[in-house]
Amino acid sequence: MKEFLAVAEVAAMASGSRIREGWRQVKQIQFKSPVDLVTTIDRQSEEIIVDILQKRFPNHSILAEEETTITGPQSNYRWIIDPLDGTTNFAHSYPQFCISIALEREGEIIVGLVYDPLREETFKAIRGLGSFLNDSPIQPSKVAEVDQALLATGFPYDRREKASFYHTFLKALLISSQGIRCNGSAALDLCYLACGRLDGFWEFSLHSWDTAAASLIVQEAGGVLSDFSGNTFSIWGQETLGSNGLIHNEMRRIIQEAKHVDSAKVD
Ligand code: IPD
Ligand code: CA
Ligand code: CA
Repeated sequence: MKEFLAVAEVAAMASGSRIREGWRQVKQIQFKSPVDLVTTIDRQSEEIIVDILQKRFPNHSILAEEETTITGPQSNYRWIIDPLDGTTNFAHSYPQFCISIALEREGEIIVGLVYDPLREETFKAIRGLGSFLNDSPIQPSKVAEVDQALLATGFPYDRREKASFYHTFLKALLISSQGIRCNGSAALDLCYLACGRLDGFWEFSLHSWDTAAASLIVQEAGGVLSDFSGNTFSIWGQETLGSNGLIHNEMRRIIQEAKHVDSAKVD
């Protein structure tokens, strides 16, 4: 598995160089929806990563956000890639974005790598071997109450239509916690949780490529992930609740109570 991680790292470094070259320049932007952007560099990053992985592992499958879906002959291995997580930040030259590369084997993520090309921080994990930031092992924080916690969240691409629904959860956690950050890169948020910079995270409607690598990094570091009801987390699900473990039940309770408040509302 170390070889898989090493190749993922080579691919992330290569696309990271391209992203670093382009991040201050004027971007060529296309709109998937009014608030869902893609730049030429998202696509170039994907091409660079897919090219390296395909040459090295021609039998593997690949699922990448922008356009790549390849079914390899030995399709029990699948790479799940977000070539640029934090595109809106990138499009505005706001320095918070990353590359996310995960390897799944028979439905289980076995390798995860998230690379921040500006800070040159590489978060990585191999199943069963812990999580690392560059070469140092990482653990989540020891904050034991939401009252003392720094949380993060993000808002899905239907936020203009469902603003008041998302606001219900934001308000509940805003009044319960020490602060909330909205950093614009879910993969980095989860890695920040894994290394103790954040204590908790929640978001609706993330995609598999947003969470595949970082979910392993959180879990191998000793953090906890679930859906909002406390059920086993799935990268294919609609709800991501992450924490250092100590505040998980409290966050879950606050979210459930907010859900009841929202469903009791009369529009
Ligand atoms: C987005 C980022 C953002 C999250 C969105 C994601 P993208 O990914 O992770 O933080 O709030 O839901 O779609 O589009 O920049 O790759
Ligand atoms: Ca993403
Ligand atoms: Ca992306």
